[in-house]
Amino acid sequence: MTDRITIRKPDDWHLHVRDGAMLAATLPQTARAFGRAILMPNLAPPVATTADAIAYRARALAALPKGSDFVPLMTCYLRDDTDPDDVEAGFRAGVFTAVKLYPANATTNSAAGVTDYAKITGVLARMEKIGMRLLVHGEEVDPTVDVFDREAVFLDRRLAPMMRDFPGLKIVLEHLSSKIGVQFVRANAPQLGSTITPYHMEINRTDMLGWGIKPYFYCMPIIKTEADRVALREAATSGDACFFLGTDSAPHSVAKKLALSGAAGLFTAPLAIELYTKIFADDGKLDKLEAFCSLNGPAHYGLAPNSATITLQRRPWTVPEHIPVDGPDERVLVYRGGETTDWQVLT
Ligand code: DOR
Ligand code: ZN
Repeated sequence: MTDRITIRKPDDWHLHVRDGAMLAATLPQTARAFGRAILMPNLAPPVATTADAIAYRARALAALPKGSDFVPLMTCYLRDDTDPDDVEAGFRAGVFTAVKLYPANATTNSAAGVTDYAKITGVLARMEKIGMRLLVHGEEVDPTVDVFDREAVFLDRRLAPMMRDFPGLKIVLEHLSSKIGVQFVRANAPQLGSTITPYHMEINRTDMLGWGIKPYFYCMPIIKTEADRVALREAATSGDACFFLGTDSAPHSVAKKLALSGAAGLFTAPLAIELYTKIFADDGKLDKLEAFCSLNGPAHYGLAPNSATITLQRRPWTVPEHIPVDGPDERVLVYRGGETTDWQVLT
């Protein structure tokens, strides 16, 4: 059995690091192993203009350890009134890598997201023209749709028509969570690519709800059935070009996670690449790890892969229970904190 593997440095194509003390506490966790990451714009208020993104990028760079060559990639939070000229200017200036579509109220800090799809056609047409990627939180928020069906209904009702109307627009369906979604992505590649989180490949809804409610397994899109979990795991470990790494690592304070209306999001950055490596190793697919983590994502974005490498070693280590935050949020609990896991990046 292989106990050590070297791959090109991976990128995280979907990451939340927030702002202020939370940014300072969490971004170094990703920078330790990844070359680049797409920083999600769902701050309060959101990163919605080129000027917002320039300022947020500066704060992110300031949060990095000295000497780090990690590159934060910025996204524009799409609203009904987003200005196509500003999006294009930000893209041409190398500030924006992509635009992120949140259906309004689908998840954390998405209240300012899209409410009327007819209003965003001007931005989508411009992005199609200039070759800019659209990142989609693919869940239908119609309250008559069951929470476990939100992804499937969104694909049918929103994404399929959008892809027909803008056939030249390259899209990433973020945090894929269902077997139906896996089939949809395969059928629509290469226009469509998709990120897969480690936890959607590790746990099912029985783990989340079957033996006590587990707020630390609660995220959006919600964790689904065992058949969905298996389909996602097969998709990622296939090495197929349309699937790539995006952790959706999403830190929240303990108070927010354990509130009566608890926040969605799992904080995985301190063990993200290790989780993916364990999944591929346990399934006998380590030969596909580099494609999923380091090659397929850049190819979908039209970027070169990183030239540096990282080495992972199979050896037991204990996941820290929390990351301290120097501010009012105090600490963030880590996914699988306190458990022993068996792969680690060699520094
Ligand atoms: O679980 C989630 N948390 N899903 C999202 O889409 C957003 C994220 C967050 O920002 O906390
Ligand atoms: Zn996210």
